[in-house]
Amino acid sequence: MPQNIYDNPEFFAGYSALREKDLNANNLIVRPHLLPLVGDVQGLDVLDMGCGAGELSRWLVDGGAKSAVGMDVSERMLAEAEQQPRESLTYIHSSAEDASFESDPFDLVVSVLMLHYIEDIRTLLERIYTWLRPGGRFVFCMEHPVMTAGQGIVEPGWITHDDSGLKAWTLLRYSDEGKRVSHWFVDGVVKYHRTTETMVNSLIDAGFRIERLLEPHVPEEFEQQHPELRRERERPNFLFMSAKAEK
Ligand SMILES: C[S@@+](CC[C@H](N)C(=O)[O-])C[C@H]1O[C@@H](n2cnc3c(N)ncnc32)[C@H](O)[C@@H]1O
Repeated sequence: MPQNIYDNPEFFAGYSALREKDLNANNLIVRPHLLPLVGDVQGLDVLDMGCGAGELSRWLVDGGAKSAVGMDVSERMLAEAEQQPRESLTYIHSSAEDASFESDPFDLVVSVLMLHYIEDIRTLLERIYTWLRPGGRFVFCMEHPVMTAGQGIVEPGWITHDDSGLKAWTLLRYSDEGKRVSHWFVDGVVKYHRTTETMVNSLIDAGFRIERLLEPHVPEEFEQQHPELRRERERPNFLFMSAKAEK
C-alpha cells in the first residue's frame, strides 16, 4: 500500500495553502508547459492519474474531452475535486498501483506531479500502456531527478557559490535510485528518486515512443514580474514527457 500523505490533515492544510498562492509551481511552470504538451483533447477518453483537487480533470472535459476519469489515493483531495462536478467527469478512489481498467479504455493518460510517489515505475508504465488504445498518449510531469536525488539528504539544496551571492543547486546521490524520506509540511514524506535514464528507458521498454521531453523554467513574463524567479534557471524543477503507445 503506497503512502497517502495528502490525507494527513497537517500536510493537507500546508499543501492547500501552497496551491492558493499565485506564485506556486503549478501556476508558474506546470500549467504553461503541460497544456500545450497535452494538446487537443476533443472527443478523447482521458484518465488523470493522481488528479488531486481535479483542476486538470476539469480542464480536460471543459476542453472537449468525451470523458475523463480522475483517480487519486487521497480522499481529502477527491472531496475537493467533487465540489466542482462536471458531466462526463467521474472520480475513483484508488492508488495508481491498485487501479484496474478493462483493457484499452483511454486515448490519453495524464499525470501531474504523482510519478515521484511511485516505487515500481516500470510496472506502472507497463500497466498504463495496456490502458491505452493503439496510438494513445501518456503525458506527464514529475519532480525532476535533479530535485529528488538529494531530498532528505541535503536540505535546503541551495548553497552560496561565491561572494557575489550566486547560488548553486546541490546534486547528491544522483545515481543511487530509491526511497527518499524528507520533511515537506510534515516529517516522513516518502518519494522515489530515479534517473532520467531510467524514466526514458522504462517508457521505451513498456512499448512507448517518446514524442517530447521538456525541462522548462519559469516563463519570461513571470520572471520579469518577479526577478527572484530567475534562479529557477539554475536547475530543472520538473521533467515533462509525452509518449505514444505503439501497438
Ligand atoms: C502534487 S499533487 C498533484 C495533484 C494534481 N495532479 C495537480 O496537479 O493539481 C499529487 C497527487 O498525487 C496523489 N498520489 C500520490 N501518490 C499516489 C498514488 N500512489 N496513487 C494515486 N494517487 C497518488 C496525491 O494524493 C495527490 O493528490
